[in-house]
Amino acid sequence: MTATARIIDGKRRAAQLRHDIAIGVERLRDETGIAPKLAAILVGDDPASAIYVRRKGEQAAAVGMESESHRLSTSISQDDLLALIDRLNHDAAVHGILVQLPLPPHIDKAAVLRRIDPGKDVDGFHPVNVGLLASDSETVDGRIIPCTPMGCMMLLADELGSLEGMNAVVVGCSNIVGRPMAQLLLQARCTVSIAHIHTRDLPELVASADILVSAAGAPGLIKGSWIKPGAVVIDVGINRVPNADGDGSRIVGDVCFDEATARASAITPVPGGVGPMTIACLLENTLRAAIAMTAERRHDTDMASDRQSQFA
Ligand code: GUN
Repeated sequence: MTATARIIDGKRRAAQLRHDIAIGVERLRDETGIAPKLAAILVGDDPASAIYVRRKGEQAAAVGMESESHRLSTSISQDDLLALIDRLNHDAAVHGILVQLPLPPHIDKAAVLRRIDPGKDVDGFHPVNVGLLASDSETVDGRIIPCTPMGCMMLLADELGSLEGMNAVVVGCSNIVGRPMAQLLLQARCTVSIAHIHTRDLPELVASADILVSAAGAPGLIKGSWIKPGAVVIDVGINRVPNADGDGSRIVGDVCFDEATARASAITPVPGGVGPMTIACLLENTLRAAIAMTAERRHDTDMASDRQSQFA
């Protein structure tokens, strides 16, 4: 089997995006004296979530943003969590708020996400932002797009330019990735199919894809032989699996990578593909939210629309 696929370097693209964001942050500071600020809320002590929240803070600092993190006990009441969100909603110095998921089972996730001011909802999970994305909203200023799908669209745009008319298959229908991804592909004028656990003939559906995005969280689900020759493959899966020799573990995607490189024209590796884009896009959303809030206060719409038109 000869490997032909181009390997899409998400790490490099994310670094480029952070560089661009840092310039935007500096410009905002020069023009208004305001630094974008991200507030992250972590409930409980899930180690993976703690690492993600720490990285978000570190990368915010690296682009010149301010950040604060609120680490709350697993046993916090829903009312106390909602009260913290209310406080952050009303804090004019905070431009972006995120509640790291998953939340403990006694907390109503939907009620928490609904409580965040949609203008500060830098994850794009509030029903207002979900609704804007699901409607034909490309021209709506201030809509916030979920971070991982935004990153995937940037990688696809770099690879393909226009996506118009292409068959896109999204495997996975989560609120965080699959559903918003499908909406963005539809807005890019693809013919979109969403596959999920009940999908019949997944191999046949995958074989129709010019663009395949897998966000199923199932290691090795997508076999190389299913992939249409020349397809662009975006693997969002981050799955920890034991090493073959039984010693330690490693991270793999949903796609059988080595097999897929023989058929795809381009593919994201795991790690180093989509993963690095997610936090960079969170910072992009935080900068956009800060610009929109600042412009609103100054009745200055030019700055906001400048930034909005630069990206998906
Ligand atoms: N948990 C897994 N992915 C995400 C994400 O993108 N945002 C938040 N808030 N929690 C997550």
